[in-house]
Amino acid sequence: MEKILDIISKKMEQAFQDAGYNAAYGRVTVSNRPDLCQYQCNGALSAAKVYKCAPIAIANAVAEKLQGEDFSMCKAVMPGFINLNLSDSFLRDYLEKMRTAPDFGVQKEGAGKMAIIDYGGANVAKPLHIGHLRPAIIGEALKRLHKFMGYNTIGDIHLGDWGLQMGLIIAELQVRQPDLCYFDPNYTGEYPEEAPFTLSDLEEIYPAASAKKDVDKEFADRAHIATYENQQGRRGYRAIWQHIMDISLPDLRRIYDKLDVHYEKWLGESDAHPYIPAMIEDLKAKGHAVMSEGALVFPVAEEGDKKEIPPCILIKSDGAAIYATTDLATLVQRMQDHHPDKMLYVTDKRQNLHFEQVFRAAKKGGIVKAETVLEHVGHGTMNGADGKPFKTRDGGVLRLEQLLNDMTNFVRSKVVENKIVAEDEVEATTAKIALAALKYGDLSNQPTKDYNFDLERFAAFEGNTGPYILYTIVRIKSILSRYGAWENLPICLPANPYAQELMLCITRLGPALESALRTSSPNLICAYIYELAGAVNKFYHETRILSEENKDLQKGYISLIGLAKRILEQCIDILGFSAPEKM
Ligand code: ARG
Repeated sequence: MEKILDIISKKMEQAFQDAGYNAAYGRVTVSNRPDLCQYQCNGALSAAKVYKCAPIAIANAVAEKLQGEDFSMCKAVMPGFINLNLSDSFLRDYLEKMRTAPDFGVQKEGAGKMAIIDYGGANVAKPLHIGHLRPAIIGEALKRLHKFMGYNTIGDIHLGDWGLQMGLIIAELQVRQPDLCYFDPNYTGEYPEEAPFTLSDLEEIYPAASAKKDVDKEFADRAHIATYENQQGRRGYRAIWQHIMDISLPDLRRIYDKLDVHYEKWLGESDAHPYIPAMIEDLKAKGHAVMSEGALVFPVAEEGDKKEIPPCILIKSDGAAIYATTDLATLVQRMQDHHPDKMLYVTDKRQNLHFEQVFRAAKKGGIVKAETVLEHVGHGTMNGADGKPFKTRDGGVLRLEQLLNDMTNFVRSKVVENKIVAEDEVEATTAKIALAALKYGDLSNQPTKDYNFDLERFAAFEGNTGPYILYTIVRIKSILSRYGAWENLPICLPANPYAQELMLCITRLGPALESALRTSSPNLICAYIYELAGAVNKFYHETRILSEENKDLQKGYISLIGLAKRILEQCIDILGFSAPEKM
């Protein structure tokens, strides 16, 4: 559906033209004085300079041409603004179209395009910690937003499965169990199906090895060699690597499932490996890849750079490929397999330079097309409630699963205490509320900003929180179920100012989703639904709905809140959570 701003801008442009002025002055904006009007046009002020007359004279002439049934007010005011209010019938008709159109008539600007969202970035063999929360939540929301806006989407976790952690585990395992067949270079038989370690062994081996490498140079060297040899395909190491993958992935999946975060692709750095040699040859042939201090690098500095952008390292002096190499090779793979128009990377914003280098190399090297959109969505840090970096009591890094459990336990105690649902529904309801608290608490912040994780504040049923939004939906659901069949009731004229405010708010759905998409900011969706929930609650408090005796009036009320409910549900689905039946 055409956006309201576009519809009324067209009318305003026509009015400028009819009054004898250039139509281009007729652009309408949302009013910055909502107490005075809903929309405004400031074109007469600029036009006055060109036509050399008083702005108010132009505004008056234009306003006169614009009168009609779409506006309840169209008024020129000093020094030359044109203030507009939509008429009730315009609002009703627009909402009725939204109600009956697929996806509320939101324009699908991604139609026919493909977007890959690279998010989560879990590292195999290392437990997910709280640093993995934001990329998972923000990435999932951005993926769902792109999908809603018409894109074909692929979410790819881009596992860290190729780096030093693998070499560290292999080297440490060799210290502990040197006689395993994996380490015997002369072994030619099949390797055992069963891994020589369990998940909890791994959870102990990796940190131990990682600590050792910092104090034991000789061990660190062996881990580096093992990393390299694994990448080159040494059989015994690949077999250990496969064991690590087989044990680690189901556990990662389990936790992402709990977060309602789902990937279409579980590809990793290792999957990009086969693409590296040909890519390097190609970059060398094109003269992009050059030797510098023993390493192969791709210079990406540009004239006019404000800060120094160092060359992108492709192959280190020891022959190993690095993070940037696999990211470039992954781009080769993605372009070949999916021809994406857009790729988003959601990681900590401290990786900004890395992505700047990779994106430049990808464009200069012709790995992606000039018009392929590459965007790094860098997020800030989640700190503790005191604003300090999040630590466990003993100073360690908090596990993601622990954080989720803490939130769940806190919410469960509220659900039980307030006897919100029957006993057998406690777990399901708790899970929904806890997820909403966690996700909304995160997503309502601009991605780039740091924020403080505050369990009690996030889980509160009042204020700008996930549970408040759920509560609003549940309240509407309860009214609707007491009313009866509501799905086909048409929208009516706004019967009071609260209904009108709610209707106006509903019309802003499309623009809100569009800005969220353009700026990769799920926080704009949160801001929108917070406003919408506020408008619903205000309307509810000021209007008798179920006890209304005028049945036609009542139908209109019910239809309106039914539409609001569907929109709220759609928006929280994009954000990645859902509402329970009762709260
Ligand atoms: N595994 C990486 C990390 O822990 C994040 C991966 C992000 N995606 C990418 N294509 N680089 O930092």
